Amino acid sequence: MTTISIKSIASLLIISAGLIAVFSVNGCKVSQKVAAKTGVQLWTENCQRCHNTPSAASFSAEQWETIGLHMQSRALLTDEERKKIVEFMKQ
Ligand code: HEC
Repeated sequence: MTTISIKSIASLLIISAGLIAVFSVNGCKVSQKVAAKTGVQLWTENCQRCHNTPSAASFSAEQWETIGLHMQSRALLTDEERKKIVEFMKQ
């Protein structure tokens, strides 16, 4: 019995080490994914939490710049994310 429990402790340790390795690798992947996000992705993910997403045609390019700054503080976006969303809305 004791040999079995030592074996299972050993395999648990191996599994945990494997999980930690997987999570650390994923951590890197997630930040790369965020950087690779396009304006349209960021817009759909961030802008409909509080209201329906207004269509790009509803506002002029100048208005989108102002809205971008205003909604950046509301949606807690980074400068980079705001720029991508505003670029997308101005198209
Ligand atoms: C945390 C909630 C929240 C998030 C997230 C948010 N908004 Fe807003 N938005 C508001 C509120 C509240 C208003 C009403 C105006 C005000 O008081 O700021 C508003 C107003 C607007 C308006 C003006 C609507 C109109 O008809 O006059 C636009 C356009 C807009 N948001 C775009 C966006 C975009 C684009 C994003 C994504 C970057 C976004 N919002 C994310 C809360 C949010």
